[in-house]
Amino acid sequence: MCRKTCRHWDPTLPVIYVITPTYARPVQKAELTRLSHTLMLVTNLHWIVVEDAVRKSSLVESLLMRTALNYTHLNAPTPDIHKRKASVRGVEQRNTAIKWLRNNKNSEVDNGVVYFADDDNSYTLEVFEEMRKTIEVSVWPVGLVGGLMVEKPLLNTTTGRVIGWNSAWRPDRPFPIDMAGFAVNLGHLLRHPKVEFLFNISGGFQESVFLQQLTTTERLEPKADNCTKVLVWHTRTESPKLTEENKLRKLGKQSDKGMEI
Ligand SMILES: *[C@@H]1O[C@H](CO)[C@@H](O)[C@H](O)[C@H]1NC(C)=O
Repeated sequence: MCRKTCRHWDPTLPVIYVITPTYARPVQKAELTRLSHTLMLVTNLHWIVVEDAVRKSSLVESLLMRTALNYTHLNAPTPDIHKRKASVRGVEQRNTAIKWLRNNKNSEVDNGVVYFADDDNSYTLEVFEEMRKTIEVSVWPVGLVGGLMVEKPLLNTTTGRVIGWNSAWRPDRPFPIDMAGFAVNLGHLLRHPKVEFLFNISGGFQESVFLQQLTTTERLEPKADNCTKVLVWHTRTESPKLTEENKLRKLGKQSDKGMEI
């Protein structure tokens, strides 16, 4: 969108397509604001924001317009039959973004990498530069996830290839890695036209089922200094206590009347 006016654009570098599913909740604007400020510092970044909603919201629309980012704003409501399951949050939205890439990008000419970035994680700028040169699928450690301080790939020190994982929670997962811990080359994804996220998969297996369609453990490209650095954290935002607000609403009042929070 702002391709020409973006402050950070270098036509010789691969584009990072950051896919962020998002949904309406009290902290949504705060989360997206914080994430956008990180992304605005990254060269050649295209943000694909997909709302879990029947219609695009003006909150997200105006936030995106205010950023100096190259972006695409989409919406895709989670089908009703899947709505109550936390394990499928983001599935429909990520697939919608992948579909947009398949319809709008060409594996022969578009040089890029795809990264799934939830709106509540914490990202260093370095993680984007690490993933930028991904040939097929790259991986790195993620902090504060899987019940551990860090969940990470284990490498063979001679070959430098991934040989396993340190995960403690469901270590039987084929790729016991968080969504924030890998990136996929755009052309590689487009050359696998059927690959998508699936409903009816138990919690924690989304990443595994997705990556199994794209790679094998041996082929993974370890980043972040041979997976010795944490460049992204799976932080979770506490839900704000709105007990007083709820009391107000019962009286037909609200603290945020006429304001977008
Ligand atoms: C990573 O490991 C490989 C193989 O052991 C080694 O050749 C390379 O120098 C290491 N790279 C970094 C950045 O530590």
